[in-house]
Amino acid sequence: MSLVSLSDGLLLTKQMVLIPHLVAAVRKKALEGGNDLRQILIAANWKMNKLASEALSFSRDFLPMAGDHTNIEVVICPPFTCLYTLQNCLNGTGIRLGGQNLFWEEKGAFTGEISPLMLADAGCTYVIIGHSERRQIMGESDVNINRKIGAALESGLIPILCVGETLQEREKNMAREIVKEQLRKGLQDISMANRQIVLAYEPVWAIGTGVNASNDDAQEMIAFIRSYMEKIYDKAIADSLRILYGGSVNEGNIADFIAKEDVDGALIGGASLQADSLAGIVRAVQNV
Ligand code: 13P
Repeated sequence: MSLVSLSDGLLLTKQMVLIPHLVAAVRKKALEGGNDLRQILIAANWKMNKLASEALSFSRDFLPMAGDHTNIEVVICPPFTCLYTLQNCLNGTGIRLGGQNLFWEEKGAFTGEISPLMLADAGCTYVIIGHSERRQIMGESDVNINRKIGAALESGLIPILCVGETLQEREKNMAREIVKEQLRKGLQDISMANRQIVLAYEPVWAIGTGVNASNDDAQEMIAFIRSYMEKIYDKAIADSLRILYGGSVNEGNIADFIAKEDVDGALIGGASLQADSLAGIVRAVQNV
């Protein structure tokens, strides 16, 4: 959805494009108008970090520091072993939980795997699927990612499907083609009717490197992703889809990303591990 249609009568001027906080203000105004389909989403991916006791002290510190976060959606995706602890601490705070992976079967002889039902039972609303670390280190294929997306949706979980190119692919000018193929294969035969999915553009070269994509590059790729989603689904679905940027996001650069028209939030690794840093990101988004 462009800000123009979101904002019901508000016009997105060229000047606003150049002034990030004006764009964010328009978006906010539109949300206040009742359309929260693309409410800003800040998702923390803790990866393989934190013991349950550390998750507990994180939430004790984070909640008062984050302040008012009612205008945005905040999701924490901890390791599975922290889910129950966080489910208890975050109950009633509005902060949601997500898994970092799942298996596509409901139950059975699948040693080491976790089902969508188990994630939902542990309090998850979201699940990250197809993170580049799983693609690269665990050899996760697009076919299996596609199965996982289907299973997550069947169980009422909201998948956060990650896509993104490596540095080599970007240098060869193949970034769009790679992302397009990941989307095409990952979403093959997936119906979007009455279902919610979130996409995350995470260029591999920006993950954990401290070298973030520029906000213009993120906007360009995310606009491309939105246009591709329009092609494989339709305009209404593409317009209502939340697409996040991920890769070296921090307190200092988050506002510039979410000020971009097509960027609906961020998937954050390293900077989400410290309570003060994630709280700073939440406050920065809340204040634009
Ligand atoms: P960093 O924020 O540490 O770059 O990680 C991004 C990421 O992989 C989130 O899923």
